[in-house]
Amino acid sequence: MRADELIRKLSRNHQLNKEEWICLFENRSEQSDRLLWKLADEVRRAHFGNKVYKRGLIEFTNYCKNDCYYCGIRRSNVAASRYRLSEEDILSCCKEGYRLGFRTFVLQGGEDGAYQEADIVRLVSAIRKNYPDCAITLSIGEWDRSSYQKFFDAGANRYLLRHETANKAHYEKLHPESMSFENRMRCLADLKEIGYQVGCGFMVGSPYQTSETLAEDFMFIQEFRPAMVGIGPFVPHHDTPFKDETKGTVSLTLFCIGLLRLTLPYGLIPATTALGTISPTGREQGIQCGANVVMPNLSPGTVREKYELYDNKICTGEEAAECASCLEQRMESIGYEIVVDRGDSPLIQMEAKT
Ligand code: SAM
Ligand code: FES
Repeated sequence: MRADELIRKLSRNHQLNKEEWICLFENRSEQSDRLLWKLADEVRRAHFGNKVYKRGLIEFTNYCKNDCYYCGIRRSNVAASRYRLSEEDILSCCKEGYRLGFRTFVLQGGEDGAYQEADIVRLVSAIRKNYPDCAITLSIGEWDRSSYQKFFDAGANRYLLRHETANKAHYEKLHPESMSFENRMRCLADLKEIGYQVGCGFMVGSPYQTSETLAEDFMFIQEFRPAMVGIGPFVPHHDTPFKDETKGTVSLTLFCIGLLRLTLPYGLIPATTALGTISPTGREQGIQCGANVVMPNLSPGTVREKYELYDNKICTGEEAAECASCLEQRMESIGYEIVVDRGDSPLIQMEAKT
């Protein structure tokens, strides 16, 4: 089947089989890309109008016990200058974020042993108490099911844990032996069962990625049906084993964003900072190709450049208010509006009504 026929089929059925996905990645053309982005924009407008949701990202620690080969804050990077925000620091980021109209706080960090289960529970409880009308998203890696349950009971609503790749052999090329594909998948299943709005995702153009592994990513996503999917280009970091690998492209990232929109019409899909890093208009293009979320940084200016996952990461020089208004202007310039809203998954809202 031709790429444009496969795109129309995906738009109708929201799924393809593995051979069809591979065929799509191998046979895309300028013409089929244009069709995809047109359909993706129509679907997104049908469900979300011109609304874009914003999430306030608080990168609260760059200590990490893991050693992912692609990541600039991996344990073995002795050149990384480490920091950890206190609970008080984090609460003041939330305070400023709330004032700026954020109704979702995303707490992201490395797997920092100094932040133990009880600390996260205390932190989530404090944010929940101060901001009952806000969503709390955690993005703090792999934990036991019982910890995930305690964070949820303390008031966390959403969890972002990229699956990174749905192909086990590929996963093992991106991570050391101490990490396992099975555990990653176990975490995602547990999170969903507990009741979180779950986000998975992957890097576009990660080393050893092929049309087949991408096909498997989409097979996984169409089956798992996450509320959110975060994707962005892989960008090398100069102090990692992947320093000489090629970065992901804008074109393939936008292609994947369009495919995600057709696979998950109601999905929450961010136009990521990594996409804005490889192209000055990357985030605007991401929205135009089907994304509906932006994640301005609320971390204090003093630590921002230390959360260096990859080289030349943007938005490390600004303060929260500048970052938020810069993105607001960028979205307005292309006819979209960032709204003051928790931006829950419409699927969760529909389930709640039935
Ligand atoms: N520790 C948490 C976790 O593992 O989910 C959250 C932090 S982790 C740094 C967040 C995401 O950053 C990863 O899931 C990965 O996909 C992305 N990332 C890391 N290094 C990257 C790179 N060099 N280029 C692009 N994205 C990267
Ligand atoms: Fe842990 Fe990247 S290796 S956050």
